[in-house]
Amino acid sequence: MTEDHGLDQIEFPVLEGQTVKLRELLIDDAANMSRLMSYNISKWLWEVPHPYTLENAMNFIDSSHKEFRLLKAMNFAILYKMNSESKSLVGIIGLKNINIDDRKANLGYWIGESFWGNGIASESVKLIINYAFSVLRLEDIYAYVYSQNKPSIRVLEKNGMTRVCEVNEYSKKLDRYQKTAKFLIKRK
Ligand SMILES: CC(C)(COP(=O)(O)OP(=O)(O)OC[C@H]1O[C@@H](n2cnc3c(N)ncnc32)[C@H](O)[C@@H]1OP(=O)(O)O)[C@@H](O)C(=O)NCCC(=O)NCCS
Repeated sequence: MTEDHGLDQIEFPVLEGQTVKLRELLIDDAANMSRLMSYNISKWLWEVPHPYTLENAMNFIDSSHKEFRLLKAMNFAILYKMNSESKSLVGIIGLKNINIDDRKANLGYWIGESFWGNGIASESVKLIINYAFSVLRLEDIYAYVYSQNKPSIRVLEKNGMTRVCEVNEYSKKLDRYQKTAKFLIKRK
């Protein structure tokens, strides 16, 4: 299906920024994912339960690998170079619902609470957008963010994403409707 786009042989990339490095998720990342996923993170995410067990994390990594082979999703481990343990995952960023034919995808991310406020999400989003436009040749990248999530909205706006609309979506996890802003950046 991806043959026409020359992306069928794609290797999972390593994306290097000044303070972050993004690489493929490894099964050994599961322990850090489970440890870092606090309630204050999961409450902003559509599908992530709390507590987030080792099994939850391992399932996520496993399905990430499968979805990458189909080029449906690319989930990266975020490493923070300023951290004394610079090889340890501090968060996740990913593209999901990748549609190579329609050239679009959705962006999502989270950072461990103790690492907030260091510009990690901002730089990671920049790297992913550049990769999605220049290598995957996508045209549209969307992000859905709870309307009250000011830090995340700031991260999107700093990266040139603009609000398209606000929708009131039913959340199975919350069992209620949730105001959600839809953001978009188009390839120039
Ligand atoms: C949103 C999140 C990823 C941000 O990660 P981060 O690495 O701390 O982000 P950055 O440091 O790159 O940038 C955060 C920006 O928000 C700003 N900010 C923080 N709190 C804010 C608030 N209450 N109101 C407005 N802006 C705020 C910061 O000042 C910074 O902007 P600046 O660089 O202009 O100063 C992180 O808080 C997180 O994981 N939250 C929970 C999960 C989540 O919301 N994911 C996104 C779902 S769409």
